[in-house]
Amino acid sequence: QDHLITATQLSRDDIEAVLDRARAVADDPAAYADRHAGRVLALCFFEPSTRTRMSFDSAAKRLGMNTIDMGDVDSSSVSKGESLSDTVRVIEGYADALVLRHPSEGAATLAGERVDVPVVNAGDGAGQHPSQTLLDLHTIREDHGLDDLTIGVMGDLKYGRTVHSLAAALTEFDANQHFISPESLRLPRSVRFDLHETGAQIREHDDLEPVLDELDVLYVTRIQKERFPDENEYHRVAGEYQIDAETLADAPDDLTVMHPLPRVDEIAPDVDETDHARYFEQAHNGIPVRMALLDTLLENANPDGDKETEVGR
Ligand code: CP
Repeated sequence: QDHLITATQLSRDDIEAVLDRARAVADDPAAYADRHAGRVLALCFFEPSTRTRMSFDSAAKRLGMNTIDMGDVDSSSVSKGESLSDTVRVIEGYADALVLRHPSEGAATLAGERVDVPVVNAGDGAGQHPSQTLLDLHTIREDHGLDDLTIGVMGDLKYGRTVHSLAAALTEFDANQHFISPESLRLPRSVRFDLHETGAQIREHDDLEPVLDELDVLYVTRIQKERFPDENEYHRVAGEYQIDAETLADAPDDLTVMHPLPRVDEIAPDVDETDHARYFEQAHNGIPVRMALLDTLLENANPDGDKETEVGR
């Protein structure tokens, strides 16, 4: 069964195929409008979300699908103690694909082992967020292409799952990757190990300034307050690594500034008015990219093109 659990499962060809399809969707959305009519996407979010939940919902509807939403944990039977395994096994009988966000690393892997419909990992704790990576790459590709890229990734590299997925995917394109963070928020050992295994050169920095003029892309992330075991530790690093328009005064003219959002105070509002800002466009790219992803996964799950949904699995 084809699931999207981690960016490490994606080859360069896989990524380019989805991004090519996203371009085609963006160019001619009407051609995809009824593509998956009669199919149902289940949205299972055990953690808050605005962009991922709503853009998957919108993307599915733009493909002619219906969506069902598990709702908040408090209003679902999870609050009665139902396990993740039982929850997804039940929901797979209601849907043709499932999008899952969960606070535990490995939750999507487990879900993928339990169900036969495609599962998309929409964030598993501090683990991975691979569909975000696809829209990040789409955004980068539209500005710079994906070859000979130099990127700086700044902020919470320890708990930032979008960073872990993006860094893995960029090894497929031999990108030069600079990681800028306080010592306590460096990449986790496991992520660093996986990057080294691919032959990627990891360069880590305390400050942005020495590398800023080399960058094509600056990818800024939020300090993930909710993941810190000790709130005091969060307050020790909160507010570091903020940028504003003045920070970017000497940046390359074509520097693209990205952020998976939500931001707190990492990027000052005056950056929004510069030619560098691309984060709202990045969020909007979630629509064509997630349409392309759902289309691909559903096509792979139904290779004969049969749109008959199995009812009451
Ligand atoms: N970028 C992202 O995952 O945003 P949400 O948490 O709002 O889904």
